[in-house]
Amino acid sequence: MPNADLVPGFDPNAKELQHDPYPTFEQLRECDPVHRAAAGYWVVSRYDDVRNTLMDRQGFGQGDFVKNIQLFYGPDFDVMSHTSYRWLSEIFLMQDPPHHTRLRSLVTGALTAKRVQAMKPRILEITNALIDGFIADGETDIISSFAYKLPVLVMCDMLGVAGDDERLEQVIEVIAKSFIIFEARALSPDELEAADREIAFLESFFGELFEQRRIKPQDDLTTALVQSGDGEDALSLHELGTVAIGLFGAGFETTAHLIGNGLLCFSRFPAEWDRLTADPDNCAAAAVNEVLRYESSLVATYRTALEPRNINGQDIKVGEKVLTLIGAANRDPRKFANPDDFEISRDASNHMSFGGGIHFCVGAELARLEGRIAFGELARRMPDLRVDTTTPAWRDGFMFRGMSRLSAQWTPV
Ligand code: HEM
Repeated sequence: MPNADLVPGFDPNAKELQHDPYPTFEQLRECDPVHRAAAGYWVVSRYDDVRNTLMDRQGFGQGDFVKNIQLFYGPDFDVMSHTSYRWLSEIFLMQDPPHHTRLRSLVTGALTAKRVQAMKPRILEITNALIDGFIADGETDIISSFAYKLPVLVMCDMLGVAGDDERLEQVIEVIAKSFIIFEARALSPDELEAADREIAFLESFFGELFEQRRIKPQDDLTTALVQSGDGEDALSLHELGTVAIGLFGAGFETTAHLIGNGLLCFSRFPAEWDRLTADPDNCAAAAVNEVLRYESSLVATYRTALEPRNINGQDIKVGEKVLTLIGAANRDPRKFANPDDFEISRDASNHMSFGGGIHFCVGAELARLEGRIAFGELARRMPDLRVDTTTPAWRDGFMFRGMSRLSAQWTPV
């Protein structure tokens, strides 16, 4: 029988939770599956409850953005006076239909399975050029030399940002830092001021890029976005910039974590790496699904009740906020046998790591392809690759799960 008294308060700021969320997730799932956090929102952890919440487009949506953020800061907090929160309120992940539908449809066309498959030769080329850069060294920080660079260069290709633009490093750093605004907590005044500055920098970087493409079109997604819509329906440069920053950010940070987290899993479960190196062509796709299930890059996401609902016996009132724990759903033994074992031979394709319902990840196909190529080529070219599993450098924050560095060794080639 669930016993909520056994569960300590849920605190997304707690470093132990951020470094290893799984013991807390298990307690929540088994003892208090619809937990009331002290901050005033519900925390949902079982697979079926997470999935049903994300799939229920009538009952749950993004709701009132300002009220959702004020939940963390108090009712007097002026949310929209902050550049970072104003930006966050405008990305289509934070919108409900019909605005969400209009903005989302702009990018889904560029990321269909067919278009993504057409990118395969280029992704292979980028992957192998990166591996060429360090394979003779026998060791590297695989996060900075590979896991981050691959998705960033792919996003640059897609959006038409020059891979050697001298501001690129800054763009990457700023995006990674500014995504702190997704966290389910109040930021300190210093964090908030930095996030405002960072988003303002990104708006000006992408604003400039769109202006250049308006004047001189090229064969890239940025040009397609500039030319999309017509007359009154056309997007303003400001709206375009918001879409581009969201895509760039959602596209590289999560995929970088997929690669890094995956390599950590393989070194913790070396028999699985051996299985992959024995047959990378046939095992890489299943390996990506299992990495996504086992160590999801996005640990949680939240929704607001638009209609009264009952989750697992608990009434949820209109306007109440629900944090769905994707990382906990993926380890629910009701759905996955021996969930704490990392096994690439299992069918993990119904993991929740790309979300569900109308906000299902638009970049899922691209992320899967990048993951397949990354793991497949590393396994093929560096079959004795191992990473240091002793003290993973998990990044601060609860919502995104990934490392800032990861030392890797192999026999130099
Ligand atoms: C391993 C990599 C990735 C993971 C784990 C991931 C995860 C997710 C999840 C869980 C959502 C749904 C969030 C919610 O419902 O609140 C989402 C949405 C989204 N993702 Fe991804 N993502 C990944 C890669 C990408 C890539 C490569 C792109 C872009 C090229 C991308 C772009 C987006 C966008 C734009 C949305 C918002 C969709 C909407 O609101 O309709 N993601 N992602």
